[in-house]
Amino acid sequence: MPRIAVLIVAAGKGERTGLGLPKQYERLAGQPMLRRTVEAFRGHYVQVVIGGGQQELAACALAGLDVPTPVLGGATRQESVRLGLEALSTDAPDYVLIHDAARPLISSKVIAAVIATLEAGADGALPMVAASDTLRRKADDGCWTLVSRENLYRAQTPQGFVYAKIAAAHRNHAGQDVTDDMALAELAGLKVQMVEGEEKNIKVTRKEDFALAESLFGSGDIRTASGYDVHKFKDGDHIWLCGLEIAHSHGLEGHSDADVGLHAITDALLGCIGEGDIGQHFPPTDERWRGAASWKFLDHAAGLVRARGGVINHVDVTIICERPKVGPHRGAMKAKIAEILNIEPSRVSVKATTTEGLGFTGRREGIAAQATATVRL
Ligand code: CTP
Ligand code: MG
Repeated sequence: MPRIAVLIVAAGKGERTGLGLPKQYERLAGQPMLRRTVEAFRGHYVQVVIGGGQQELAACALAGLDVPTPVLGGATRQESVRLGLEALSTDAPDYVLIHDAARPLISSKVIAAVIATLEAGADGALPMVAASDTLRRKADDGCWTLVSRENLYRAQTPQGFVYAKIAAAHRNHAGQDVTDDMALAELAGLKVQMVEGEEKNIKVTRKEDFALAESLFGSGDIRTASGYDVHKFKDGDHIWLCGLEIAHSHGLEGHSDADVGLHAITDALLGCIGEGDIGQHFPPTDERWRGAASWKFLDHAAGLVRARGGVINHVDVTIICERPKVGPHRGAMKAKIAEILNIEPSRVSVKATTTEGLGFTGRREGIAAQATATVRL
C-alpha cells in the first residue's frame, strides 16, 4: 500500500472575497470552509498549511479533527506548497495530493481517480474540466477575439504527485512564478496525466461563491430526529436545565445531573445518525456516569455527528413544566447549548410551555423536555 499524504494550502489572505476573515475561515454551510475541505479527505493523513497569525483561527476551525499542527506557509501559494512539502519530508509519503483549502466541494470520486492514476504509474495526476463556455480574449486595444474552446481545459486540485519528484521540482524551481503545481511539474519534465475533474469542485474566490458553494452542499443528506426525556422532582434546592444550574424549590432525580433539556437534545442528535439513545451510550448502571454533567453526553453525541462528516444545522428544545420559569434563562441556555455544540446561538432554539395544570408536569411532579435536531450529513 503506497503511503499518501494530503497537503491543504490555506495560507492565503482571501482578498478577493472582501470579507472580514481570510476566506478559508469563513463559515460555509455552518462550518469554517477549511474544516469542510479537510473533512472531504477523511481517512487520509492531512497536513494543513496556514498563514502567519492564523494559528488561533486554524485551531478553532480544526478542533477535534485528527490532523497534525498546521505548518506556516509563505507569501505565495507556491511558497506555501514548498514549505508544506518540506514539513512532510521527515516522514516522506510515496504520493502527495496538493489541494486548495478554497475547494471544499472536492468529491471522493475525484480523490480516488487522482490516487488511481498515480498508482498506475504517472508522476502527476491533474483533475481538469473541459471549457464549455464560448471564450473571448480582450486585446490591449480593447478589441475582442474569439478563442476556440476546443482542447481547452480548466485545471483543478487536488493535483497528485510522486512525493519525491514534486518536492525536487519545488526545490529546483523555487524562484519561478507559476500558478499551480502542475506547471512546475511540467517545467521539471514530469510525466503528467489528466483525470476527470468535476464542475462542482469550484474554487471559492469571490463573496458570491459562498452562496453557490452552499447551494451545492445543499443537496446533502438532511436528517431530522426528535428526543424526549422526563425527570422526577425530589427534595433539593437547585436543578440543572439546558446546561445551567438554576435555584429551585426542588431538585431532579437521576443517575446523572438529570438535565432533561440536554438529554432530549442528545437523543435527537443520536437519532439523526441512527446511533441508538443516550441510555445505550451512558448506561444508568455505569458508575462512571453517577452525577455526571450532562454536557458531556451532548458533547459526545455532537462528536459522533462530526465523525460522520455531519454538520448540526439546528436544534430546538421545548421544556415542559409549571416551574421554574424558563424565560429569564432562555438567552443563557441558548448560549450554553451553542457552546457545547460549537455552533452559532442562532442555530439553537429554547422554548417552554406549561400543561395548564394537567398531567404530571401540571401537578409539578417532574419536568419533561422534547427536542428536534437537524443534521446535514
Ligand atoms: N494560498 C496559500 N498561500 C498563499 C496564497 C494562497 O496557501 N500565500 C492558498 C489559499 O489559502 C487557497 C489556495 O492557495 O486555499 C488558492 O489561492 P487563492 O484562491 O488565490 O486564495 P487567496 O490567495 O487566499 O485569495 P486571494 O487571491 O483572493 O487573496
Ligand atoms: Mg491568491
